[in-house]
Amino acid sequence: QANERESLYLVSEFANKYFQKILHHTDQGKSIGLGYFKERGFTEETIKSFDLGYSLNEWQAFTDEALKQGYNLDYLEKTGLTIVKEDKRFDRFKGRVMFPIKSMSGRVLGFGGRILINDKKAAKYVNSPESDIYHKSKVLYGIYHAKQSIAKEDNCYLVEGYTDVIQFHQTGIKNVVSSSGTALTSEQIRLINRLTKNITVLFDGDAAGMRASLRGIDLILEQGMNVKVCTFPEGEDPDSFAKQNTLEELSMYLEENAKDFIQFKASVLFEESKNDPIKKAETVRDIVNSISKIPDRIKKEIYVQECARIMDISEEVLFSTLAQINKKEF
Ligand code: CTP
Ligand code: MN
Ligand code: MN
Ligand code: MN
Ligand code: MN
Repeated sequence: QANERESLYLVSEFANKYFQKILHHTDQGKSIGLGYFKERGFTEETIKSFDLGYSLNEWQAFTDEALKQGYNLDYLEKTGLTIVKEDKRFDRFKGRVMFPIKSMSGRVLGFGGRILINDKKAAKYVNSPESDIYHKSKVLYGIYHAKQSIAKEDNCYLVEGYTDVIQFHQTGIKNVVSSSGTALTSEQIRLINRLTKNITVLFDGDAAGMRASLRGIDLILEQGMNVKVCTFPEGEDPDSFAKQNTLEELSMYLEENAKDFIQFKASVLFEESKNDPIKKAETVRDIVNSISKIPDRIKKEIYVQECARIMDISEEVLFSTLAQINKKEF
């Protein structure tokens, strides 16, 4: 079993080297893959430091090379790098630019592959499937590159995508990781919790991003961590925003717009509901529900006071709502 996992690591590391070689040393890689990354504003240094790569637009170029190098088809299939259908073999990432996903210690666990031209018929990103070495719910993209800065800054920015992480790094903010398309999980938060108690959630400026940040908040609070949320202008995501701004501008934006979770929930939910008593009641319950997740009693009390002030409701009512929620949970 340990041996098999090691074999999966080895074939993934081979693939990582291979995709980089294709990107930097073939005509197709240079013109299409490197061209794509340059177009997005990634520098040579950034491309190298994230081990970005390219998978040829051929049915089985990678698989053939891996087999030729002596890698076992069984492991190629188990990592999902090769799709086996009857007696045919296909490269999963055919014609995509490649983002290797690494563990905290820097081992390659899997890949995300992006299509070059947006096309409604094909998925924008294809990712490695779950395997004995790749458990999506336990991995954060960028953690290997970010861990030192997270500890040093005592804060972690949490973004949605691969390119958000990379563009932040390039702009000069390195304490950033991504849940990469999966809904944030407790296991992912635990990885961050080892490094800092402070998370700032930076989701895309669209409805999906807003929903994702609201969902993530309670999970973070449950682990006794502090959550702030910062949103971006409509249609922007951390990548596109960082690309248009200098480090100073970006840092200032984050500082000025990061709101404590309760202010965030209040501003998003409350704005929509303040003139409607029934909706307002729902919003209050929603916020109190988040507060109920906080393990620390003193913090809980402070947040109740804050909520009472923002929502203009008496603390007594909020405390009794909190008590009701606690009763239901036990
Ligand atoms: N994602 C995915 N599969 C998709 C779409 C998205 O796995 N079909 C994941 C990717 O990890 C992606 C993240 O969700 O990085 C966020 O999605 P989105 O905001 O749509 O993509 P961006 O990261 O902004 O990618 P890009 O800027 O390249 O369009
Ligand atoms: Mn999005
Ligand atoms: Mn995005
Ligand atoms: Mn984007
Ligand atoms: Mn920038």
